[in-house]
Amino acid sequence: MAQATLIPLDNVDPALVEALLDRAFEPERRTRTAYKVREGVDWLPALSFAAIDGEQHLVGTIQCWPVALTDAEGKAHPMVMVGPVAVLPEHQGAGYGKALMTASLAALSPLAPLPQVMIGDPEYYGRFWGFSNAHTGGWSLPGPFAQHRLLARCDNPAVLPREGMLGPWRG
Ligand SMILES: CC(C)(COP(=O)(O)OP(=O)(O)OC[C@H]1O[C@@H](n2cnc3c(N)ncnc32)[C@H](O)[C@@H]1OP(=O)(O)O)[C@@H](O)C(=O)NCCC(=O)NCCS
Repeated sequence: MAQATLIPLDNVDPALVEALLDRAFEPERRTRTAYKVREGVDWLPALSFAAIDGEQHLVGTIQCWPVALTDAEGKAHPMVMVGPVAVLPEHQGAGYGKALMTASLAALSPLAPLPQVMIGDPEYYGRFWGFSNAHTGGWSLPGPFAQHRLLARCDNPAVLPREGMLGPWRG
């Protein structure tokens, strides 16, 4: 297990963050549906972090975004979209991904945490943080996606709309 040092993401040069994302994901990453969900909004500085290794090199990042699920009546339900979480290939499996996820979720407001949503592997995000696709079966996204990979996490799932369209939140 590497010693992960986490710092706020806004301390990092945005060009380095983009270079890291290019290495962790395929080059077409910007065409992904997740990018459309958060189109035109900025990531949330209080919930976004970078991981630095022992030699002060950037090895991982996590960004969280303001989004909302708009229900059939047109009411917007604000949520936090978690991700991308990305770790450089040569540093994967050393605990950085877990540390980044845990830091973002711990930074949520303890008084009124918004529901969190993400697109990812239910095995990984369910096992460690309780994300689940159990309540997202009626949710839509502005592009193609695998329904079983649309995950939500919420103290009280009863507040989650059964149906809706996820998109950027400029509230
Ligand atoms: C997914 C990712 C962020 C995980 O970060 P990481 O630093 O490699 O993971 P960690 O070392 O913190 O966690 C490792 C544990 O998670 C498990 N794990 C990692 N990725 C997994 C996945 N996709 N599905 C299931 N389990 C997974 C490992 O088996 C390991 O389990 P163990 O602790 O029992 O050995 C990283 O692999 C990555 O950047 N991948 C490419 C980009 C990507 O797909 N991001 C996710 C979509 S936003």
